[in-house]
Amino acid sequence: MKTTTEENPTVHSAGTISRNDLVQLLNEDLSREYQAIISYVVYSQVLSGAEYMNIAGELEKHAEEELSHALIISKQIDYLGGMPSVQSKPVRTSKKPKEMLQFDLENEMVTIRNYRERVRQCEG
Ligand SMILES: [Fe+2]
Repeated sequence: MKTTTEENPTVHSAGTISRNDLVQLLNEDLSREYQAIISYVVYSQVLSGAEYMNIAGELEKHAEEELSHALIISKQIDYLGGMPSVQSKPVRTSKKPKEMLQFDLENEMVTIRNYRERVRQCEG
């Protein structure tokens, strides 16, 4: 059985990937969007302290943006004939606001890196 991991999709000679691999990768993206939705819903409510008030408000808006990303990706997966994932990537929490924001930043960076790669793969 062919195994495909996020880091190692089957790359064909022309540098393109199969439709199935693309569906799997988009499902990883979808799981990251779920992770972001859950993170922003929770972080926006538990971030406390005057210095975090504005940030908490921003995070609430982000929760809604992430939901729209999840819808776009699941639409694309369905279009490609796949089944959208129902699994979220794990969500980290912390009692310390700075640590929570650090988790958020790390997740966003992973997401951006993956989308850059996805754009390249879709162009192929
Ligand atoms: Fe997103």
